[in-house]
Amino acid sequence: MQERHILGIDVGASGIKGAVVDIETGELLNERIRLETPTPSTPEAMAETFAELVRAHKWKGLVGCGFPSIVKHGIAYSAANIDKDWMGQNIIEVFSMASGCPVEVLNDADAAGLAEMRFGLGKGVDGVVLLITIGSGLGSALFIDGRLVPNTELGHIYLEGQKQVAEVYTSNNARKRENLSWEEWGQRFNEYLLHLERTFNPDLILLSGGASKRFDKYESFISTQIPVKPAQLLNAAGTIGAAVYAYQKFRKA
Ligand code: BGC
Repeated sequence: MQERHILGIDVGASGIKGAVVDIETGELLNERIRLETPTPSTPEAMAETFAELVRAHKWKGLVGCGFPSIVKHGIAYSAANIDKDWMGQNIIEVFSMASGCPVEVLNDADAAGLAEMRFGLGKGVDGVVLLITIGSGLGSALFIDGRLVPNTELGHIYLEGQKQVAEVYTSNNARKRENLSWEEWGQRFNEYLLHLERTFNPDLILLSGGASKRFDKYESFISTQIPVKPAQLLNAAGTIGAAVYAYQKFRKA
């Protein structure tokens, strides 16, 4: 194990995925291992799965973790798609106690964004770049001249005429739950993107997470002026970004 090799773990509402990452090249050094997120996804149950994933990698060093909530100084400040017991929990403590490894944590979409800005299509792009992750929820990462504005939570805005937040209307879960065709879902997602375009006027929108792999199915329904592209790292971005973040924190400490 070298200092630049870090275990990245992407904690999601349906799966917890991990791989060892070379943070200089962004390469995954092994096959990603995915374990089901336990139901209910309480801190105790998730901690056990997290520790199992660390053991499966025979890992003893620093772990970077992307987590699906607002994260400030290691604390969870929201719990939209995970058990409500996470509210106010110290994620770092919960996961490092269970795994025996030092852990650094950030929002999962922010993690995906960091990776895509460093190794993917966001590399060297100035101005405003917005990355949206489409999975169980909708996550967002906002960059200004390459610098992250953390915890933007743009999956929780309201679209005109909707009583529920955007992620209930147009996440990948919404598509599955309501059995929407790609065209029906694509039109909803386009409403969402048009709203983001009008309010943020970004230079580029990147898509990551589960549904980014199926971009060809809904690309034709997107009518924004600005370019919208599937992220180059697709859904490995969260794992890679978590490792990059942990390394940056470790270097600063
Ligand atoms: C959460 C975000 C998260 C996103 C994607 C949302 O429900 O509020 O924090 O980034 O899901 O997992």
